[in-house]
Amino acid sequence: MIFESHAHFDDDAFDEDRDSLLESLRENGIEYVINVGASMESTERTFALAKKYPFIYGAVGVHPTDTLPITEKDMDRLKELAADEKVVAIGEIGLDYYWDEPDREIQKKWFRRQIELSREVNLPIIIHSREAAKDTLDILHEMAEGEYRGVMHCFSYSPEIAKEVIKMGFYIGVGGVCTYKNAKKLVEVVEEIPLERILLETDCPYLTPVPYRGKRNSSLYLPYVVEKIAEIKGISTEEVERVTYENGMKLFLNK
Ligand code: NI
Repeated sequence: MIFESHAHFDDDAFDEDRDSLLESLRENGIEYVINVGASMESTERTFALAKKYPFIYGAVGVHPTDTLPITEKDMDRLKELAADEKVVAIGEIGLDYYWDEPDREIQKKWFRRQIELSREVNLPIIIHSREAAKDTLDILHEMAEGEYRGVMHCFSYSPEIAKEVIKMGFYIGVGGVCTYKNAKKLVEVVEEIPLERILLETDCPYLTPVPYRGKRNSSLYLPYVVEKIAEIKGISTEEVERVTYENGMKLFLNK
């Protein structure tokens, strides 16, 4: 059984076959899915999916590249949604310096504000951090109140940084990128951190694993990620599935 910790099934890419695809997940071994909001609009769509499907849970939040139009009113709405039992995390939130906009100060402001929100509603956080390692770590250290509960999703930094965020309490999200030829750094991360700190994720419709790279991604391709992690760590695919499943249950479903 696989725990999918990061999907965007509300994306347009699934408009044609969303329901039939989602209905096929469980018979293919995908037990739970965390669908992750990235804007206020996708957060509302995420919430609707979580209410429709018993095995889908939602994360509500605003991705750094979507923070420009955000106001305190939106924080009120996120808080309202977070009170529902099908909402299990605040995310994805963070910093993305690959893009020049919005301004870094705006990204930082809403990253901090949504960390605060996660405390107000007592939920873990899903962090998106791209080309912004230093500022992400600075903010996390500055705002730390004991251990964090959360995941650094689509991890793209060094093994040293992975160990630092694990020490702060975080899990590391690993997806299709680990199957790519140029994924040396992520392979090292997987090698060096304990399986007990890894979550499986797709970030679908993006980041499709080999051999389907370039096609639309979905949770159905997670077995390719499981296989790669098993190969890197020299353990069985069953163990990778079992431990990452337990990790997802512990972090998001308190079981
Ligand atoms: Ni995402």
